[in-house]
Amino acid sequence: MSGKPISAPEGKRPVRIHLGPLTLLADRSLTPVRAGTRHLVLIRDGARVVAAERACPHEGADLALGRCAAGRLHCPRHLASFDLRSGTVSPGWSFRALRLFPVEAAADGFWVTIGLDGPQP
Ligand code: FES
Repeated sequence: MSGKPISAPEGKRPVRIHLGPLTLLADRSLTPVRAGTRHLVLIRDGARVVAAERACPHEGADLALGRCAAGRLHCPRHLASFDLRSGTVSPGWSFRALRLFPVEAAADGFWVTIGLDGPQP
């Protein structure tokens, strides 16, 4: 018998965490939130909502103080921007992509899933 394991290794399983009510974003496009021990920023990009790590992967600026426009999150410190579907940084920068996490809007509020790899829907 061979093939891929049917479950992820212990500690690597995706975890779904409740972030708060649907009013969390109100009329804002960026809201800092905590998911367990992680500091994230909840981002509204048109009708889509996604979560990202809150510290910029360049020098750790608070991305909750940035701005979201045209599908990109702009860092407030050095103005690099990140694609909100892939996390890739704007041209001219050579640091890693921003980590993104899928968000679900349910009747009881926003939920984020931590632990999935790859670009988010
Ligand atoms: S700290 Fe974000 S681009 Fe430098």
